[in-house]
Amino acid sequence: MSKFAAKAISTLFAVALGFLATSAMANTDNDAIAERLQKVGSVCVEGDDCGGAAAPAAAAGARSGSDVYTASCAACHASGVLNAPKFGTSDWADRSAKGMETLLTNALNGFNAMPPRGTCASCSDDEIQAAVEYMVDSAK
Ligand code: HEC
Repeated sequence: MSKFAAKAISTLFAVALGFLATSAMANTDNDAIAERLQKVGSVCVEGDDCGGAAAPAAAAGARSGSDVYTASCAACHASGVLNAPKFGTSDWADRSAKGMETLLTNALNGFNAMPPRGTCASCSDDEIQAAVEYMVDSAK
């Protein structure tokens, strides 16, 4: 194909596109195409509405104390592994004498065999606190 022919074809194509774009129908199609193209090339970061499929953390919102407990704390605190204060026992009444602030600080930073954040790296401070409160309340 000669250079001229190629240029003529691409010019015609551009003109045809321009013509199509003026009709409402074509605009709708172009929008749909643009949306599809964007999804392929766009980066989805946490907190963004990623084309309807929101990031799990954003969609779920804050996890409840019992959810965090079940997912991250029960492994040790349900049965008292390594002398962890046991859920639903007076262990937690004894601990709560320290005050919530101390318990939370120790839960966040770790305390002897208690790992920082109870190994839940994705838990927010609020979620850790909710889990601590859930366990402290279990003693009552
Ligand atoms: C690998 C086991 C393990 C996991 C998982 C774990 N803990 Fe613990 N936790 C312990 C142990 C052991 C202790 C007791 C430490 C001590 O008193 O020496 C403890 C103690 C605590 C205390 C009391 C701290 C204090 O100052 O007396 C809190 C609060 C606590 N854990 C919160 C949590 C929370 C919240 C989670 C889940 C997000 C969690 N733990 C997950 C082992 C664990």
